[in-house]
Amino acid sequence: MHLAIWMTLCMLWEMNAIGVGHEVHEFPPNFHFSAATAAYQVEGAWNTSGKGENIWDRFIHTHPDWILDHQNADIAADSYHHYQDDINALVQLNVSMYRFSLSWSRILPTGDLNVINHDGVEYYNALINGLLSVKIQPMVTLYHWDLPQPLQDLGGWTNPIMADYFEQYASVAFSLFGDRVKWWITFNEPSHVSSAYADGHQFAPAVESHGIGDYLATHTILQSHTRAYELYKKQFRRKQHGQIGMALFSFWYEPLTRSPTDIAAAERGLEFELGWFANPIFGSGDYPKVMRERVDINSKAEGRVRSRLPYFSRDWIKRMKGSCDFFGLNHYTSTLATTGEDGEKPSRERDSGVVVSEDASWPTTNSNWLRVVPWGMRKMLNYIRLKYNNPPVFITENGYSDEGQLNDNGRVEFYSGYISEMLKAINVDGCNVIGYTAWSLIDNFEWNQGYTKKFGLFSVDYSNKTRPRRAKKSANFFQEMISNNRVPEEIFELLRDSVPEENKEKHPLQFHVPFRLWM
Ligand code: GAL
Repeated sequence: MHLAIWMTLCMLWEMNAIGVGHEVHEFPPNFHFSAATAAYQVEGAWNTSGKGENIWDRFIHTHPDWILDHQNADIAADSYHHYQDDINALVQLNVSMYRFSLSWSRILPTGDLNVINHDGVEYYNALINGLLSVKIQPMVTLYHWDLPQPLQDLGGWTNPIMADYFEQYASVAFSLFGDRVKWWITFNEPSHVSSAYADGHQFAPAVESHGIGDYLATHTILQSHTRAYELYKKQFRRKQHGQIGMALFSFWYEPLTRSPTDIAAAERGLEFELGWFANPIFGSGDYPKVMRERVDINSKAEGRVRSRLPYFSRDWIKRMKGSCDFFGLNHYTSTLATTGEDGEKPSRERDSGVVVSEDASWPTTNSNWLRVVPWGMRKMLNYIRLKYNNPPVFITENGYSDEGQLNDNGRVEFYSGYISEMLKAINVDGCNVIGYTAWSLIDNFEWNQGYTKKFGLFSVDYSNKTRPRRAKKSANFFQEMISNNRVPEEIFELLRDSVPEENKEKHPLQFHVPFRLWM
């Protein structure tokens, strides 16, 4: 009897806390469900029908040995020819949105407006129209890492002229597809785009210029994004009524211990990864203060005449601030942070003064950077809520890597955990999350890991010419969750206490998580 009263009180409390009449394990009204892919990872048809060469084509063809299984994405899942199979998979999933990217070189083979490739435009028209015919909204990423090679030959993102090219490319995309596309992402994970100008052979274009090339690239990317945003606002928004965001990647940085120095290290980790882009757009309009201070000091100590972190003019700061309609978040996992010196000299890593490690008890996946830490999602969302004034957040990627088995229980557990934590962030903490995207719709080409890591809700038979897609167990889980508009209560109950009551009022960096279910 006592237990029943107590449970009712808890339920009432939760309904009060959410104040909108739905239960804590339910999705709010009008919540968007989506699944994602990216052009280079699925399309194939790398040089057919007028497509130009991009930096990943070049990277892979010149250095097959830099890809774990020495494979390439020349054909990949062949979505260029089998996009209807992708649409069928989306229908089966029951999602209301599909996030995919445009291949810049498929539309503008030289990167410039001198050639517009009709077949490329028709391909995206067919895909968009196919989606709309089954009531799935397209969410289109303009740039998911595949720069036309002729633009890389000019220096790529380290050359400020790229902002002109990007704005013009965006203008072509808005003009051609904006009558039907209402959700745009300018850049996918710009921190990774920039790191490819620092880290050498990891990602295309494989430039090695630690702590210089990456800061320069980011400077151009932020300006390119802002110019596309302004262009849309000025010329397209009144007629097209769309929204523009950026998809920002971040680990959650958990302090190694509760010590003030570890908490400060975690905060710096977040500023150097997420704040690098989020602060100019959702914060002060400029790079985070701690980044400015540390890189300036280090650059001076290195005897340089300028800071490796470029400066924005006052005008640019004004323009960048507020240049997104929603906060796209790609979140997968967490890391432990402590203060120390690590990484190349110089490098962004060393500038941050953060040393990261993993908690050995966090469950592993098939990707060595990705451990299963569902409570990190809740902390991440609360951090964004508190730091950037609770903007509308669209989770633009979240997913799990395995070997591709159809009976993918690990993926089902991963999604149950992360989505439950997201629901607590929304329904208990008041985070303004408007949509959720699973990475990925189908198994695809995982960059320098080739086909060795599988993220799909659907498998693809790469030994078959027609690349048939097959639903995994996780696809059925998604389908049911979306139809019922809730995470099954029994799963949610298991995860209920991941952030204890006494932590609720605290900043997420001070939350203590004593009970971790997934260990
Ligand atoms: C993201 C990226 C995707 C995909 C995913 C899984 O960083 O945007 O393209 O590769 O990670 O690793």
